[in-house]
Amino acid sequence: MKFYSKFKTATAVVGISMLMVMGQQATAMDDADAIVKERQVVMDNIKNTVGALSKAVKSGASSDEILAAADAFLAATASSVTIAAFETNTHGKSTVKTTATEKVWSDWDRFEQALVDMENGAKEIQMAAAGGTLNSEDQLGVALKECGFCHRSAGYRSR
Ligand code: HEC
Repeated sequence: MKFYSKFKTATAVVGISMLMVMGQQATAMDDADAIVKERQVVMDNIKNTVGALSKAVKSGASSDEILAAADAFLAATASSVTIAAFETNTHGKSTVKTTATEKVWSDWDRFEQALVDMENGAKEIQMAAAGGTLNSEDQLGVALKECGFCHRSAGYRSR
């Protein structure tokens, strides 16, 4: 009887600590899911703003409209925001489908540099827009080059 109650207590303790471990894992997973989702919103926003800018330039919109679109693209690429979106290593920790590869974090300095380069490209574009000289889609190449670098050449994204 005594032995049985001891046994029961031990199982209960093991049970509780297992629940705690499972709880921690669930929290870590929820966190990773939220981080991945947020990061994808950041990236989608970059895609949408550069798409709008490209459309404005192509359709010969007014210089004010082009400038507004360039401002929005620059804001979307802000390296403080983009770096924060990727800072946490979520590799293998999220249930939300992510296309970010382990290389993002194992090659972090280069990855971070690409985010800074993209913002600098967006700055040049915004300056051209402010000066009224952004009139060809080709001029978006500076920033768009970085999309291709990360998405294709560097292997930061799986497809
Ligand atoms: C520093 C590297 C880097 C740069 C620069 C970069 N991306 Fe990404 N992008 C990524 C990674 C990594 C992902 C995968 C994110 C994930 O699923 O967790 C991604 C995801 C995306 C997605 C999919 C988001 C979703 O909803 O799943 C879009 C769209 C996108 N990027 C557009 C762009 C465009 C447009 C540019 C250039 C103007 C760009 N990216 C520049 C690394 C980069």
